[in-house]
Amino acid sequence: MLLDGFGRKHDYLRVSVTERCNFRCQYCMPEKPFSWVPKENLLSYEDLFKFIKIGIDEGIKKVRITGGEPLLRDDLDYFIKLISDYKNDIDLALTTNGFLLPQMAQKLKDSGLKRINISLDTLNQERAMKIAQKDVLPTVLDGISKAKNVGLKIKINCVPLKNINDIDIIDVLDFCKEEGFTVRYIEFMENSFAKSGAKGLKADEILNIIKTKYPNIKKVPRDTSSPAQYYMLEDGYEFGIIEPHKDDFCSSCNRIRLTAEGFLIPCLYFEDAMSIKDAIRANDIEKATQILKKVLQNKPEKNKWSTKDDNKVSSRAFYETGG
Ligand code: GTP
Ligand code: 5AD
Ligand code: SF4
Repeated sequence: MLLDGFGRKHDYLRVSVTERCNFRCQYCMPEKPFSWVPKENLLSYEDLFKFIKIGIDEGIKKVRITGGEPLLRDDLDYFIKLISDYKNDIDLALTTNGFLLPQMAQKLKDSGLKRINISLDTLNQERAMKIAQKDVLPTVLDGISKAKNVGLKIKINCVPLKNINDIDIIDVLDFCKEEGFTVRYIEFMENSFAKSGAKGLKADEILNIIKTKYPNIKKVPRDTSSPAQYYMLEDGYEFGIIEPHKDDFCSSCNRIRLTAEGFLIPCLYFEDAMSIKDAIRANDIEKATQILKKVLQNKPEKNKWSTKDDNKVSSRAFYETGG
């Protein structure tokens, strides 16, 4: 069993396969020109899989593939199949911006993927273009529909930003309700890459907007393994809000992240990281296991967005850590 220094059991591994992305979301990517990590610095699928096996053997029950945009890495279905063939009762999921789903959905399903979380910040083509800095919406909607048709279980992630897509919150909710998807609104997590001046809505503000259409909303008892607090509408539909500015979910945090470069990151808001790259490339399983346990020992009790200081800004971008 993987325990951290605060006794929290870790059974959820998030693995980023690339930090590259075909979008430039305002809340995630640098405004200034930047360069990607050279491909030779990334771990191969075989090496990432070696580490995943260590995790699974130590008690990991859920693996989520992230990025950047994970579907940009070639042959992702091959990687997913490696994992699902190793242990097919693992909760195997993917987080994507959806742009490459039209051509990938069936392959992903066939490779053993069970669930997929897709970003959808608005249903308005212009505002989607403003956020991602590319005309993405028609293709993303096609991707969502293909993923649904092949039978993948879908959740939608929406990051409401002030004066940008705050007017789309109810539209996104109604779309998800109609389609049978769970939507989670995520409070914008301040980081030094996001567009300067970007401001996110807090959970109360999101709820107040939803209440203008659905006044009777009940809080659902919290599932401690999820970062989201869920709410129920009168008709039984449930949606979630992820509130990193409160530390409610940190006390039951069960997740650890591996980046494509081989860094282990214990918390989204954490500056230090340790690399398992050399150990894994040298096939030194014992060393890689030791590093994993050390990283867990050093995991902070809570993220820093939840401290009282309103100016906390993480120096890590989500495209690097995999969200
Ligand atoms: P499920 O397995 O469907 O519950 O998905 P998930 O919420 O674990 O995965 P997803 O990639 O959809 O994550 C959604 C977002 O939640 C992330 O990108 C982050 O914005 C936020 N989030 C997830 N885990 C953490 C965490 O440990 N700390 C913080 N602050 N935010 C998190
Ligand atoms: N704050 C909150 N959510 C973010 N995401 C990316 N950057 C941020 C941020 N700064 C979300 C994306 C995607 C998920 C993986 O992370 O919308 O759904
Ligand atoms: Fe790409 Fe996701 Fe970042 Fe948007 S949030 S730029 S889709 S990694």
